[in-house]
Amino acid sequence: MLKEVAATRYITPLREGGSLPGLVEGDDLGTYVMKFTGAGQGRKTLVAEVVCGELARALGLRVPRLVTVGLDPVLGLGEPDPEVQELLKASGGTNLGMEFLSGALGFDPLAFAVDPREAGRIVWFDALVGNVDRSWRNPNLLMWHGELWLIDHGATMIWQHNWPGAQGSAARPYDASDHALKRFAPDVAAAVADLAPRVTAGLLAEVTARVPDVWLADEPGFETPDDLRRAYAEPLLARAADIHERIQGIK
Ligand SMILES: Nc1ncnc2c1ncn2[C@@H]1O[C@H](COP(=O)(O)OP(=O)(O)O)[C@@H](O)[C@H]1O
Ligand SMILES: [Mg+2]
Repeated sequence: MLKEVAATRYITPLREGGSLPGLVEGDDLGTYVMKFTGAGQGRKTLVAEVVCGELARALGLRVPRLVTVGLDPVLGLGEPDPEVQELLKASGGTNLGMEFLSGALGFDPLAFAVDPREAGRIVWFDALVGNVDRSWRNPNLLMWHGELWLIDHGATMIWQHNWPGAQGSAARPYDASDHALKRFAPDVAAAVADLAPRVTAGLLAEVTARVPDVWLADEPGFETPDDLRRAYAEPLLARAADIHERIQGIK
């Protein structure tokens, strides 16, 4: 399970993204980028953040620490912005928090250099989870203390939006032609050799176990949250074996 904190103060919205994440203070005095269950994209985005974020971390990629954030909608009452007020009102209960990397810079492929091996690991990981949100226009990568950190894994595993067709959808190639790290000659072959064998059923069980039950309950076609956890694990296990053969748009 992820650590649980309670939101004690809503600080400010982060306007860059589409989902209106906000900065909140937790009762552990941490500062978190909070993603709301009441946001338009809904709880599947949060499930994707946990599954992919924890998987990336287990594979040695840098991802800010994830927590669940309990929110009392009363916190929204004093908000002047009606859009924020609505979001907080609709998000009582369990939300997602990501440790705020204070002073981090948005990654700019023209301003920073990335080692081909690290680029290869990230491209392969994005192919594994089908991440469509790592383009040079919108890299969702942060530079913090001279190192690259991965954020925003909400737009991954598109197959989770249509479980009956998941197998076919998960077999599709990954288009890396717009990938933020394409220009750094990503060494995908080295990444596959190192990372693919580590994506085991056991690891995926551990990673999916960290998703809170409340985000997995009542999914049509699934009896229990654990059934749904297995459905998340299956396509990832299958893709780990051969998705590198279907990465398009890079040499
Ligand atoms: N952990 C973090 N530390 C610092 N800044 C962050 C963090 N997470 C997100 N941000 C900032 O907030 C923006 C929006 O967050 P993101 O997770 O990309 O949400 P969205 O789904 O709205 O794109 C990011 O582009 C980044 O500038
Ligand atoms: Mg983003």
